Amino acid sequence: MPHIVTDRVVVVGAGLAGLYAALKLAPRPVLMLSPDPLGQGGSSVWAQGGVAAAMDPADSAGSHASDTVRAGAGTVDQAVARMVTDEARAHILDLTRLGTPFDRTTGGGYVLSREAAHSFARVVRVNGDQAGAEIMRALVAAIRAASSVQVLEGVVATGLQTMGNRVTGVRIARADGSVPLTLSAPAVMLAGGGSGGLFALTTNPPRIRGQVIGMAARAGAVVADAEFVQFHPTAIDCGEDPAPLATEALRGEGARLVNRLGERFMLPLHPDAELAPRDIVARAIYAQTQAGLRPVLDTRACLGARILTEFPAVAAACARAGIDPARQPIPVAAAAHYHMGGVATDASGRASLECLWVCGEAASTGLHGANRLASNGLLEALVFARICAAGIDAALGPAPTDAHRITLPRLAAAAEADPALVAQLRRAMTDGAGVVRDAAGLRHTLTRIAAIEAARPDCENLLNMTATATLICASALLREESRGAHYRIDHPHPAQIARRSRITLEDAMAIRDSLQPETT
Ligand code: SIN
Repeated sequence: MPHIVTDRVVVVGAGLAGLYAALKLAPRPVLMLSPDPLGQGGSSVWAQGGVAAAMDPADSAGSHASDTVRAGAGTVDQAVARMVTDEARAHILDLTRLGTPFDRTTGGGYVLSREAAHSFARVVRVNGDQAGAEIMRALVAAIRAASSVQVLEGVVATGLQTMGNRVTGVRIARADGSVPLTLSAPAVMLAGGGSGGLFALTTNPPRIRGQVIGMAARAGAVVADAEFVQFHPTAIDCGEDPAPLATEALRGEGARLVNRLGERFMLPLHPDAELAPRDIVARAIYAQTQAGLRPVLDTRACLGARILTEFPAVAAACARAGIDPARQPIPVAAAAHYHMGGVATDASGRASLECLWVCGEAASTGLHGANRLASNGLLEALVFARICAAGIDAALGPAPTDAHRITLPRLAAAAEADPALVAQLRRAMTDGAGVVRDAAGLRHTLTRIAAIEAARPDCENLLNMTATATLICASALLREESRGAHYRIDHPHPAQIARRSRITLEDAMAIRDSLQPETT
């Protein structure tokens, strides 16, 4: 396999976490691998809600931290929650300085949206539901202007090179299917997103199918809280794949959830009704769907025609589906949205392997526990991008001043994941590891994953996906309780002691291998 050596820190992924970390690493030279043209393709650009930060003078980081801990259902690392919420304000000011056009009040303050389980309106937004797109626009412009960052567009990482417990580089491929080659680097930072796209019903872009978590796990990194997958209650149920999101901020504006009988079904379930924690609303939506009661989100009374201008992404998705939300309620379903679990990282953002840092949704820092508080995802990515950059600087010492730019050779075609196998994998995950789980379904899903993997054991891209799917199911099987987003119908109550989980791929594979093979 061709081999290139670089002095640059390799950043895998070009979403908010990767871009912000690359800026924080400057002037240290960075080589960024972006599967798509910069600013397209990942989850960050799709984020509708915004960034949670206590910007209102009456609000406080302490209150934000308490809400984060409460939503996380007993497994949030309180020190991490306090640190992240303390830093939030500084990062909003930094993004503003970088050119993000946050919505402002006439008095010059930040317009703040209310989202579920927040005790304050504290989500900083852009043009209603455009926060992800606009923050990314500002960061992409800053990266394009940063001479320390070389971006390789159309390039994906397929695996990590290791020597003992140390990561020495990445195997890379062209996103269009040509390659592979090995890139040796002093440090690798994974910032390639979560795993929502492993499920058949998801709000995540097609690029995001657990590949980054899987490649770290295949190299031996410890994964934490893999079973905690968040399902968003209000994906628009219109047959599109991925399902477009109807942001929670709509419920913050007063939108109501009703079923085809006209019942406002959240009222008897939680005192905060539509603004109950996300896991509770997601399970209620799922139950309504399963019962054939066709849940809808009704924004007519609270927003009327304002939804068309104030939530343009939602309005555009509705238009594609032939829905006029000013006149009709929006059909909704619970869809895989965010992975609280991921590669376990320490206080410096480092994984259990040397020279490997992980940031954003691919990491599990302890902030989210079993149920992420809305709009804490982008915030965590910002804070840990800074922390990873500082950790890498501390570990590597002075930055090289003469790092060369990389030129990729022309390379031969390599294996793409077979779309039919990916579709089977996604179906298996939604069927057996979705909103409601039990031991029999999880075991069956593990055997289906094994069969899918066995069909193409030579395809690294598929192996990364099946590794993450295996980790989710094995961890969900081991957690014999219900907590936050992890709901086991055969163990419906939380255990007395709340604990985070840690697992290696080797342990998860041992569980999978102990089951009867799939025969269908
Ligand atoms: C939303 O806008 O509802 C999603 C925000 C988030 O997932 O944090």
